[in-house]
Amino acid sequence: MQHGQYTKKVLDYFKNPKHAGDVKNASGVGQVGNPVCGDMMKISIAVKDDRISDIRFKTFGCVAAIGSTEALCRIAKGKKLADAKKITSKDIAKELGGLPGIKMHCSVLGADGLKKAIDDYEKKQRGKKTRK
Ligand code: FES
Repeated sequence: MQHGQYTKKVLDYFKNPKHAGDVKNASGVGQVGNPVCGDMMKISIAVKDDRISDIRFKTFGCVAAIGSTEALCRIAKGKKLADAKKITSKDIAKELGGLPGIKMHCSVLGADGLKKAIDDYEKKQRGKKTRK
C-alpha cells in the first residue's frame, strides 16, 4: 500500500497519536483481534458520570489501524456511553477524510474494541450492584 492513498489526517494521527497507551485504573478494557489480518487492538476507558472521560489504545495494527483508532478516541472522548457505542467505522472514515477501501477493516478494530471496553465496564457495574 502506498502512503499516497492515505489522507493527511491518517498520517498525522499515525505519527502523533495522542491517545496511545493505557488508561491508568481503567473502568473498562476491551481487546479484539482482526479476523481479516490477525492484528490486535486493546482499548481502555475511564468513565465518569456515564461519559468517557479518558480513552487510550494499544495495537499491533497497521498505519490505518493506528490512525483510525486515534480518530475514534477523539470522537469518543466526552461522549455518553450510549452514544459512544454507536460510533461506526463510517464515522471514523469521515473524521479521517476517507480511508482506502481495503483498509476499512482496520478501522473496525478500534470501534469493536471500544464496544467491548464499554461492555466490560457495564458488566463490572452490574457486578457491583448485585454484590451490594
Ligand atoms: Fe491489520 Fe490494518 S492490516 S489492522
